[in-house]
Amino acid sequence: MLKELPLVIDPHVHFRVPGGEHKEDWITASRAALAGGVGLVFDMPNTSPSTDSQERLTEKKQLIDKQIAESGYPLQYKLYFGATADNCEEIKKLQPTEVAGVKLFMGSSTGDLLVDKDEDIAKVFQAAKEADLVVAIHAEDEEMIKEAAGRFKDENKFSVHSQVRNKEAAAKAVERAINLSREVGNRLYICHVSSKLELDLIREAKKEGLPVYAEVCTHHLFFTTADYERLKGKVRMNPPVRDQEDIDALWQGISDGIVDTLGTDHAPHTLEEKNQNVWNTPSGVPGIETLLPLMLNSVNQGKVSLEKLADLMHNNVVKIFGLEPPSGKTIVDMDLAKEVRDEDLQTKCGWSPYAGMKLKGWPVKVELDGKEYNCE
Ligand code: DOR
Ligand code: ZN
Ligand code: ZN
Repeated sequence: MLKELPLVIDPHVHFRVPGGEHKEDWITASRAALAGGVGLVFDMPNTSPSTDSQERLTEKKQLIDKQIAESGYPLQYKLYFGATADNCEEIKKLQPTEVAGVKLFMGSSTGDLLVDKDEDIAKVFQAAKEADLVVAIHAEDEEMIKEAAGRFKDENKFSVHSQVRNKEAAAKAVERAINLSREVGNRLYICHVSSKLELDLIREAKKEGLPVYAEVCTHHLFFTTADYERLKGKVRMNPPVRDQEDIDALWQGISDGIVDTLGTDHAPHTLEEKNQNVWNTPSGVPGIETLLPLMLNSVNQGKVSLEKLADLMHNNVVKIFGLEPPSGKTIVDMDLAKEVRDEDLQTKCGWSPYAGMKLKGWPVKVELDGKEYNCE
């Protein structure tokens, strides 16, 4: 049966332009977005160089517009502006419609963006508040990660990644960010909430009436530390996969309304890069082509409703980020069953951690600007 969703938005992607074009570019990424039924994306600033000045923002938009035109699919996009310890004056000058929001890395990940001191984080929060922008945070406590990395340095199993970047480090960063944003009064969007610990803190903040929002990424809903054995570097990402009790809490958070949005954190790396040892493998997994099939399959399994998906993938994003509601829709076939296969993917990296999974429920068409595009 065909069903209609409002245009599916992925508020968290890393499309790698500029500087990482061997992993992805906006020609391949736009086609991957279409294959996944996604019509609007928010792209992250941890490119090379980072998107952390007005000049780089403008340059990046020019590159992207050219590549989208070449892709044959008019993917809609917004860019995040990267926070540093000393670009607050630039943040204050941003227009609310010019960017999706400000992105702040409290713990270092791919790229060199990092703002880990409370004093600097508060300054960024204040600047974003003045510009009426949401701050999206990568919440992992840098000091705790470094300390744990030292403790586990002789370990070489992939599962060590979840011990180094542990739940406590994520929860600590979430707690610090909530406390600082309570003082400053800015809107706070917590990216890729991965654990029950983080979710409990966010639930409390919401109860208090704070404008704190939670995003969950698909890999944290479908993988646990048990998957390292089979998938190794292919399930290494930041924050890492957790335990079954965390997955259960995230699904519960979806039904309770504590989780506001779903994102992919689509972060492609080449297979060659991912086939290194645990310490050298870069963190990140592709996901934009599997977001919707995974969630539609979950609708078919009775885990979530289609109405809920419309909220998580469109309505809540529009509200939190203050968007003009994008026109367009995503049409899905709830009965179409297909296996995820690496050779069918459009992403330049050419692999998926979900390869081999049979999913029922796939996007078939996206309507954008009054035109229809087939998801293939
Ligand atoms: O796993 C991740 N990959 N987490 C991040 O924070 C960055 C991303 C990337 O850009 O590779
Ligand atoms: Zn992140
Ligand atoms: Zn990310």
